[in-house]
Amino acid sequence: MKFSQRILGIKPSATLAVDAKAKELRAQGKNVISFGAGEPDFISPAATFEYAKAAMEKGQTHYTASSGIQELRQQICQYYKQRFGVEYKPSQIVVSNGAKPCIYEALAAIIDPKDEVILIAPTWVSYIEQIQLLDGQVAIVDTQDTNYIPELDRIEKAINPKTVAILLNSPSNPTGVMLSEDLIKGIAKLAIKYDLWLIWDEIYERLTYGQARHFNPVQLMPELASRTIIINGVSKAYAMTGWRIGYSIAPPELAAKISDFQSHLTSNPCSIAQWAALGAMKESEQDVIRMRDIFMTRRDLMCGLLSKMPYISFPRPHGAFYVFINIKECMGKSFKGQIITDDQAFCNYLLEAESVAVVPGTAFKAPGHIRVSYACSPDLIEEGMRRLQSFLEKLVLN
Ligand SMILES: Cc1ncc(COP(=O)(O)O)c(C=O)c1O
Repeated sequence: MKFSQRILGIKPSATLAVDAKAKELRAQGKNVISFGAGEPDFISPAATFEYAKAAMEKGQTHYTASSGIQELRQQICQYYKQRFGVEYKPSQIVVSNGAKPCIYEALAAIIDPKDEVILIAPTWVSYIEQIQLLDGQVAIVDTQDTNYIPELDRIEKAINPKTVAILLNSPSNPTGVMLSEDLIKGIAKLAIKYDLWLIWDEIYERLTYGQARHFNPVQLMPELASRTIIINGVSKAYAMTGWRIGYSIAPPELAAKISDFQSHLTSNPCSIAQWAALGAMKESEQDVIRMRDIFMTRRDLMCGLLSKMPYISFPRPHGAFYVFINIKECMGKSFKGQIITDDQAFCNYLLEAESVAVVPGTAFKAPGHIRVSYACSPDLIEEGMRRLQSFLEKLVLN
């Protein structure tokens, strides 16, 4: 039977694939430690259950407005006003089944076939696939030789008449790097100069550590509001990945189009989950702070252990919950007679030998790297890092 070219071109999500492989090996009785997951290991805050239960008891089990319940959209506006001093109207918010579809819907609203979107590499896996699913083209600006921080002149060089948007993610998945105020302003000026959309994915904005400060582009330059699409959601900050609630904020005309698109795709996100997200945003601030502080301790633990290991280096993450590790020095070395030719081989041998699952950097357009997540318990971090170190110490020069 026929399969479309579009669907044949899709690569499965590498991060989900690593997790699935780890689960499979665990089911076979192996003591696998997975650093693949991109989700908090905490249970959602109590308020999510209370609001969800109340919604069910009140019979809030029907279709909602396509762009989401008014109460949640109002709460999101209030959040943006308090956190960033930026005013939005509920009509600019579209609540979806997680932030992932928000990105797809936003891209669908602005990309025609062959249009280009600039991505900063290392880049999150799904951006690439989503752009390609829409018959758009990806233009990569690499940062591996600039400490994983994008350079303005490289971004400007990547812009051409087919460019429609620059898509940025700060704090970054996979590197944990955050864009500075000056850099955001510089990129924003390019967006204005070349009349481009700025898609700003700030899903990890609540997970920043120590002195690191997260900026929102519209907060920095209010004139950007008319060309900026904000992506955010409750998955990461409120440990609500399974509820599937995210949202986009766009200029009113574009938000209306995104909502129309969603109305044909999913109608609306789950009504109960929307009420749960409202509970989280209204009443779980202390939980967010508690979880963030725990993530910071775990980051320090993991980075401390990694910094003692041979052949690797990494940018210290200031946000999100990943460390992106350069393993290029391991290339060409061998493990029990098998030569490590690339990051995928490294991941395979590590899983076979030490039962540690990590994500290969190639999936993030950064070959020669691996991504490890510290969204897991300190015990697992300690044991997993001990195994990684043991693996690295066994590598031999050919
Ligand atoms: C950078 C980035 N954006 C968006 C998402 C999607 O989040 P959600 O689970 O709400 O769809 C993720 C999830 O891993 C992410 O890492």
